[in-house]
Amino acid sequence: MARRIGFLNFKGGVGKTTLAVNIAASLAHDLDRSVLLVDCDPQSNASIWLMGHRWDQLRPEDSVLSLLNGQSSVLQSIQKAVLRGEDGQPLIRKLDLLAAKNELLEVESRAEGKVPYFFQFYERLSGQFPAYDYIIFDCPPSASRLTKCALFATRELYVPCNPDELSRQGLTMLNSVVQDFQKESHYQSQSIPGYNRAQVRGLIVNSIKPGAKYDSLDDLIARASSLKKGSQLFDDKAFTINVSQSILASRSAHTHLPLTLDRKSSTIQEEIRNLAQHIDSRGDPDVHP
Ligand SMILES: Nc1ncnc2c1ncn2[C@@H]1O[C@H](COP(=O)(O)OP(=O)(O)OP(=O)(O)O)[C@@H](O)[C@H]1O
Ligand SMILES: [Mg+2]
Repeated sequence: MARRIGFLNFKGGVGKTTLAVNIAASLAHDLDRSVLLVDCDPQSNASIWLMGHRWDQLRPEDSVLSLLNGQSSVLQSIQKAVLRGEDGQPLIRKLDLLAAKNELLEVESRAEGKVPYFFQFYERLSGQFPAYDYIIFDCPPSASRLTKCALFATRELYVPCNPDELSRQGLTMLNSVVQDFQKESHYQSQSIPGYNRAQVRGLIVNSIKPGAKYDSLDDLIARASSLKKGSQLFDDKAFTINVSQSILASRSAHTHLPLTLDRKSSTIQEEIRNLAQHIDSRGDPDVHP
């Protein structure tokens, strides 16, 4: 059964997509895990990164919309071994993608029916749970309907943030918005045998300049520690890990290659691999609580 992981922060530009794509690629390439990345952000950054120019031709109905439109096939919408070389050969055999398209924005203005969208999304995606070791969600920077879909389907949350005061304040908002949604979805969660709601298992302080001193970093860590002690949303063993700032992170999106495929080794490549290894070695919270 797939471990279901979400990269979430309502704050924009903190590195959710960079980490989701690179951790997914490292799990599949370095640790031989089968991974499905689900791009829940209408901006479609993860999909463009992994599909390159093939994304332009992708029909909206073959995107995450297939989880929300009863008539389309989820399985047929999955891009198998999504990363391809120039000759079309797969570069990471076990990395699949359920892509986003900008048309996903339309989901936000739909009227809610009797069955909420997050429940439909879960039900349709759950057919894929046995097929993967990991399902990874890249979330938009808002408490949108698609974020709720990802949240309901996620068991483990990893929160990318930056070493600044706004990120510290963002943690407070994340804590209350996610818990409000978990209350809102309590009725539906009760109807799923063995359902466990999402918990924050890690805080990833991203874009740390090597050698720089950050006045706000201690405050951010202190806020995370108090949430670990006081909030049900946070696992009391949640880790905090730093990822360096590196031009290679944005270059990697530009070349459509995740960092782990970079032939030249670098600090950030090693940090991403270590983080993937760390997530993998901590195990499934439902198997090793
Ligand atoms: N460790 C890093 N070092 C340098 N640049 C980084 C790093 N992580 C992310 N970036 C850059 O920061 C920008 C924002 O990153 P990214 O798109 O991953 O954030 P996001 O949280 O997904 O944004 P959004 O909220 O819009 O979805 C990108 O240009 C990315 O290349
Ligand atoms: Mg993003």
